[in-house]
Amino acid sequence: MSLSVVIASDHGGFILKTHVIEHLRSLNVAVRDLGPSSPERCDYPDYAHLVCTAVQSEPDRTLGVLICGTGIGMSMTANKHAGIRAAVVSDVFSAQATRAHNDCNVLCLGERVVGPGLACILVESWLNTDFEGGRHQNRVNKMMAFDHSQSESTERL
Ligand code: RB5
Repeated sequence: MSLSVVIASDHGGFILKTHVIEHLRSLNVAVRDLGPSSPERCDYPDYAHLVCTAVQSEPDRTLGVLICGTGIGMSMTANKHAGIRAAVVSDVFSAQATRAHNDCNVLCLGERVVGPGLACILVESWLNTDFEGGRHQNRVNKMMAFDHSQSESTERL
């Protein structure tokens, strides 16, 4: 089963998004651009939500990429979504480790932090790395258990 990528940005990540899409298409990776379609000012949580919803609906075959100025707002918003493991990275080691160890399913990048050449290498390295499972599976399971326990405890407030 081949993986596909859904990608979105805010205005702060708009230009880098076009570079990453072009690079992924040159590698024959199926990419769906969820916007925005122009560099008008917009709010990163709206686009993070679109990508996370798409990943949630096909978790076994869809990965997400989110780009804003820093990658931080996107990652914070993405990690509020059940089943999403988002990481903001700016070095190749972390891009690979977050797939191998954390089973990261949404990669976040900052256009004001990394240039287009590095960003493309980061996304490619992340996509080419598999989750190692094994001892990491138990840790990811423990992480994801907070999805449920936290929403149950706030329901009681
Ligand atoms: C937009 O100015 C900027 O705040 C946004 O792109 C992002 O960096 C937020 O985390």
